Amino acid sequence: MVGLQWGDEGKGKLVDFLADQFDAVARFNGGSNAGHTVVIGEKKHTFHLVPSGALKGKELLIGAGVALDPVVLKEELKVLPDEVRGRLLIDGRCSLVSPFDKKLDIVVEEMRGNSEIGTTRRGIGPSYGMRALRLALTASDLFGNPDVKASSKFYSQVGVSPTGFLTWVEESKLVTKGLLGDVGSRVVEVSQKGGSVLFEASQGTLLDILHGSYPYVTSSHTIASYIPAGMGIPPSYAGEPLGVMKCYTTRVGSGPLPTEIKGPTSDQIRSVGNEYGATTGRPRRVGWLDLVALRYAIRLNGVKNIAVSKIDVLSEVKEFQVCVSYRHLGTETSDFQQSLEHLQEVEPIYESPFTMHGAEYDRGLPPQAKKLVNYLEATLGVRVSLVSHGEDRSRTIEL
Ligand code: IMP
Ligand code: MG
Repeated sequence: MVGLQWGDEGKGKLVDFLADQFDAVARFNGGSNAGHTVVIGEKKHTFHLVPSGALKGKELLIGAGVALDPVVLKEELKVLPDEVRGRLLIDGRCSLVSPFDKKLDIVVEEMRGNSEIGTTRRGIGPSYGMRALRLALTASDLFGNPDVKASSKFYSQVGVSPTGFLTWVEESKLVTKGLLGDVGSRVVEVSQKGGSVLFEASQGTLLDILHGSYPYVTSSHTIASYIPAGMGIPPSYAGEPLGVMKCYTTRVGSGPLPTEIKGPTSDQIRSVGNEYGATTGRPRRVGWLDLVALRYAIRLNGVKNIAVSKIDVLSEVKEFQVCVSYRHLGTETSDFQQSLEHLQEVEPIYESPFTMHGAEYDRGLPPQAKKLVNYLEATLGVRVSLVSHGEDRSRTIEL
């Protein structure tokens, strides 16, 4: 499952819904910058690191592509039933997120001043950066790699006390003890026994480090083609991607958002859709549906099936606009991004095909929603197979 926008498409809820059909749920990218919210009855659960299938009794896998923060993992396991630990397997190759990485995230953001990325400050970028420098500790390094000492020296040079570092190492060992293994090999084993694994992406396609709106992106790959690499499995094991899109657009942090809405309608959507970051609590920027961006994301991921989420939010909103193409320096274009400047300069060309105002979902898919499904299928060339119309697990319609 991949996000087709800038994250927060509602993947957490849908993973939880679909988990029933799988034997395991896996994370393959990102780290605790993610915030996956699952609502069951009155209870709201937000996961940052543990795969969203945690509450479904499924096997939980964290692939090598994930930046693992043992401190966050400890906190999440604390609020989950004890038996969850017994279902969790983490790849020993995961890069760790250290206290230094969190400090560095803040220092680098402050250095950028006005051009800050608006990161979650969870140390995710620095952790992947350390990996590229060959300085990151991996999860398995915690158990007996002499380089822990060398790393401690390095970290102390940049302001983390050596004792603080070693305390963190000890704490991290306690958290991960007995949980590490070869996740890729486990996936292949599950599959060969006839089982299946749901891979859940964190963030969205347009935040991909290579193909997103660089540099205003996250530090990992968020697209379907990263599943095999992030999990350590052959490409043929990754299966068919399901793309998730919200009926409008949101973005947290800086960077271009061509269809951004200014004024009261954006406040209304933010408030009805509860569009506040699950990790940082920041208000999300809100925009209209952007077909140019969506076509780009669908093409990159090779998505044929999509899930449409938060359709109920539009029931409260009188207006409904869809961006069908961009205008750049007087010329109409359907290219999502030729460059960062291009994406910053484009003006959306809108159409208002119908209104979603007043649609009710208590007795199945209302006519307005059917219109939207047909419209999306026709304009995006995909099949809409799921519609989500509320936070609760039960508010999902399969088509
Ligand atoms: P980082 O991933 O913390 O480095 O943040 C980089 C950019 O990605 C910022 O704009 C964040 O707001 C955004 N971001 C990171 N994780 C998420 C997520 O789970 N949902 C939405 N945006 C995210
Ligand atoms: Mg989120």
